[in-house]
Amino acid sequence: MTVRIFVPSDAAALSMGADDVAHAVQCEIADRKLDATLIRNGSRGMMWMEPLLEVETPSGRVGYGPVQAADVKAIFEAGLGNAHSLNVGLVEEIPFFKNQQRLTFARCGITDPLSFDDYEAHDGLKGMRKALNMTPDAIVAEVTESGLRGRGGAGFPTGIKWRTVLKTDAPQKYIVCNADEGDSGTFTDRMIMEGDPFALIEGMVIAGLAVGATKGFIYIRSEYPHAWAQMNNAIELARTKGVLGLSILGSGRVFDIETRLGAGAYICGEETSLLESLEGKRGQIRPKPPLPAIKGLFGKPTVVNNLISLASVPIILDKGGAFYKDFGMGRSRGTIPLQLAGNIKRGGVVERAFGLTLRELIEDFGGGTHSGRPIRAVQVGGPLGAYWPDHLLDTPLDYETFTEKGGMLGHGGAIIFDDSVDLAKQARFAFEFCAIESCGKCTPCRIGSTRGAETIDKVIAGDNVVENLDLVRDLCETLRDGSLCALGGLIPTPVMSAMEHFPEDFDQESQGSGVK
Ligand SMILES: Cc1cc2nc3c(=O)[nH]c(=O)nc-3n(C[C@H](O)[C@H](O)[C@H](O)COP(=O)(O)O)c2cc1C
Ligand code: SF4
Repeated sequence: MTVRIFVPSDAAALSMGADDVAHAVQCEIADRKLDATLIRNGSRGMMWMEPLLEVETPSGRVGYGPVQAADVKAIFEAGLGNAHSLNVGLVEEIPFFKNQQRLTFARCGITDPLSFDDYEAHDGLKGMRKALNMTPDAIVAEVTESGLRGRGGAGFPTGIKWRTVLKTDAPQKYIVCNADEGDSGTFTDRMIMEGDPFALIEGMVIAGLAVGATKGFIYIRSEYPHAWAQMNNAIELARTKGVLGLSILGSGRVFDIETRLGAGAYICGEETSLLESLEGKRGQIRPKPPLPAIKGLFGKPTVVNNLISLASVPIILDKGGAFYKDFGMGRSRGTIPLQLAGNIKRGGVVERAFGLTLRELIEDFGGGTHSGRPIRAVQVGGPLGAYWPDHLLDTPLDYETFTEKGGMLGHGGAIIFDDSVDLAKQARFAFEFCAIESCGKCTPCRIGSTRGAETIDKVIAGDNVVENLDLVRDLCETLRDGSLCALGGLIPTPVMSAMEHFPEDFDQESQGSGVK
């Protein structure tokens, strides 16, 4: 029987030499005249093990990692699946992987991302086949029942957004997938595009059937060349298979998708700027209302959803809203793919039901800091998220609980810092980031962000610390209350949380340095 060997083509694995490993595997197969096939899968999301080479054995897939091309010969010599210093055992028994609840990521790293046979063998297209036999109202009701909320950051209920588009009469409607993935430390959108692109296509087709849209666009960030290529290949294949086109699976229903490359700006991830950019204009915020659901792309009713929201829809249609809703806590239903990044021993993706605590995520899954030093701060939710100290790490990952404690879940990314971090510098970085990424439409954000960075510089230099910290507080209030969108409106969160939880980093005098 042909032995299947897997080497990821995920960008994280590629950056660690996966292509060289794959080439070495091909050479060994040829030299040894083995009956073996090399499959370029997506990543399982255990980044510290990439490139993770896997060999299919009767008892399951055995992994080796991290593998370099020079290791491949010895792995073959030892006998595939046999003892070797890089052998990590059965991949699905590794606690980091085994203790997850993978719904959206069920196939990622397991299947050949560009094989429809593999996709269907792992439950692919089941949700879409069901949706093709349902009324738009029934599809929307199923998504509403699941409790799915937008995974792009705001956590808005997906079913309600879809219903608004469904109920808005128009000859043309659109589905727009937000794959701009601008939050620091996040990479799940990229992983799905590279590791399970058909899941996104299926989710977008279902969204189209639900609201009466026949056309979809995927807005992919420009820093994702591999995802861009993979997504375009997947769309071509989907057209060939009749999953996209003028008669989806022979149903007579129409849906097609085009990709667009992002403009390399954080603000283009905000849905109205994204729509401007998609229309070929400069990425600037549109005032709301009107909501994109009523007047979106080219003035037509548009569903704008994050990629993970859309890729979670097929399993909801397949297994039912009630199945999905059964996971989670409070009003946060289902699972969320969390991302561990920064100073962390085991970085990667952890998909779990809402309710896991931040400490469980960082310590049980992540294994603590990479440096081995104590954790001092964690920033969840991207560059607009709060910096939290140790005593907040027992907070369960849930939209409402995070908000109550002054944080936000965002796109589910957590960045870990050890005790060498300087939170005054991080607060300055927040202002600097805002200054660089501001779209320039409103004054508090355009000017205030630069003034903020300058004022924190004075604090760091010990210049009138108390007065300047008061100025920063004032400025944050102005930004929060006077900004047109959440970039300027939320940048006070990292700044103020750093000042609140780590005051000693801002007030050198009280630490006895004597600087003033
Ligand atoms: C400054 C800013 C940047 C954003 N960046 C992203 C992004 O990169 N990806 C994303 O999906 N949503 C991003 N959002 C949220 C989107 O505006 C929007 O809420 C989301 O695409 C809606 O999809 P969802 O309901 O599925 O989350 C951003 C919002 C703001 C204010
Ligand atoms: S807050 Fe900043 S990014 Fe948002 S509209 Fe105003 S200037 Fe643009």
